[in-house]
Amino acid sequence: MFVCLCYQVTDKDIRHAVSEHGVGNMRELKQHITLGENCGKCISMAQALIDDQIIDEGLFKDVG
Ligand code: FES
Repeated sequence: MFVCLCYQVTDKDIRHAVSEHGVGNMRELKQHITLGENCGKCISMAQALIDDQIIDEGLFKDVG
């Protein structure tokens, strides 16, 4: 599914960036993928996908 229609970024692109590049927030995501620079409607969904993917992968399982 497309998350950012302006730049044709999909949820898979974002999940890949998290799992392969260790992206943890929007600032880091934008270093790998151009999105959110036009209308900005995608930013909250992109952030939610980053959070989801981090939880799915258990990247923080050893914290706390
Ligand atoms: S949908 Fe991402 S900038 Fe417009």
